[in-house]
Amino acid sequence: MKKTIVVLSGAGISAESGISTFRDADGIWENHRIEDVATAGAWIKDRALVLEFYNQRRRNVLEAEPNAGHLALVDLEAEFNVHIVTQNVDDLHERAGSSNVVHLHGEIRKSRSTLDPRLIYDIEGTELVLGDVCEKGSQLRPHIVWFGEMVPMLGVGANLVSLADILLVVGTSLNVYPAAGLIHEAPPHCETYVVDPGQPALSGVRNVTVIKEKAGAALPRLCQSLLESAQ
Ligand code: APR
Repeated sequence: MKKTIVVLSGAGISAESGISTFRDADGIWENHRIEDVATAGAWIKDRALVLEFYNQRRRNVLEAEPNAGHLALVDLEAEFNVHIVTQNVDDLHERAGSSNVVHLHGEIRKSRSTLDPRLIYDIEGTELVLGDVCEKGSQLRPHIVWFGEMVPMLGVGANLVSLADILLVVGTSLNVYPAAGLIHEAPPHCETYVVDPGQPALSGVRNVTVIKEKAGAALPRLCQSLLESAQ
């Protein structure tokens, strides 16, 4: 019976693909105020500004490629049931080849109806602009979970972590709840590995191995040793 590995990833895993993180030096929140671009209030105040903020990030995502960290996680699928639970809105896990990806905070390459949230569309190219409407005629918004909004996939993510034999926490400062709280859903026997050159908020997490390195270097080594231990 294959063991289950759950990966809780954040912006740090995409940093080596050239996508800025949020809270590192020169991060996204150093150059934009959250309340101007990533809240429902911002959308009411200035839709064009919000749309352009995500258009710029979407351009960056389309120029980026998955890095060795993303690819190492795909290799794990040979010997493990692997589920990626990501806070990232980029599609680099999917483009690397991961089979099971849950996005807690939405997906930047998708748009959503402002009238009916069940209507979700792929965005062709990089631009989502005023006048782009859903089939019911209402303006499309980025399919992103803004601060203060519900996290629809939280239950799915929590359930997956509760089934983990191994939990990999990669490239997240664990600053933002409820996503950060998922690390406490791991079962008692679960082995947790944290891959991050910085200092994620790990209080209260047990049975943890911290690898204080970048994902692009550390994940290939860690995944190789996990694969060897499974054979
Ligand atoms: N490899 C691994 N980790 C890295 C790397 C790297 N090359 N570079 C930076 N990191 C780490 C940082 O040390 C930090 O702990 O990645 C983490 C990035 O933290 P944040 O910028 O806070 O990103 P994240 O945790 O994903 O933010 C969570 O906050 O703004 C919201 O919705 C947004 O999903 C995001 C959420």
